[in-house]
Amino acid sequence: MMSRPRLEIIGKAGEIPVGKMKRYICPFADVLVANVEGVYYAVSNTCSHAGELLSNGMLIGSQVICAAHYAVFNLANGEVIRHPEGTTIAPLKTFKVKVENSEILIELDNES
Ligand code: FES
Repeated sequence: MMSRPRLEIIGKAGEIPVGKMKRYICPFADVLVANVEGVYYAVSNTCSHAGELLSNGMLIGSQVICAAHYAVFNLANGEVIRHPEGTTIAPLKTFKVKVENSEILIELDNES
């Protein structure tokens, strides 16, 4: 029997206006959720370079820029768009996210 993905409610959709992002400290992870024109993306809030909180960075479109050394990540898939100077860093962990009854849910079993 296939296991169903475990859904975790982490917040209310209304808490994040379009074009904004918000940090949720969950039991399983420190998660950054962004609202990009009504589409929600969820990634690890910890920069894969030196651990800066990406919630301290800047959201531009569907990309987040780390405040520390300006790495740029694609929130849709966690890929690195710009590496910090002189180094190559890993992509961000991403979480599948959906909104139901105005609540933001993260899929844990399908995280990548
Ligand atoms: S900690 Fe994010 S770019 Fe260095």
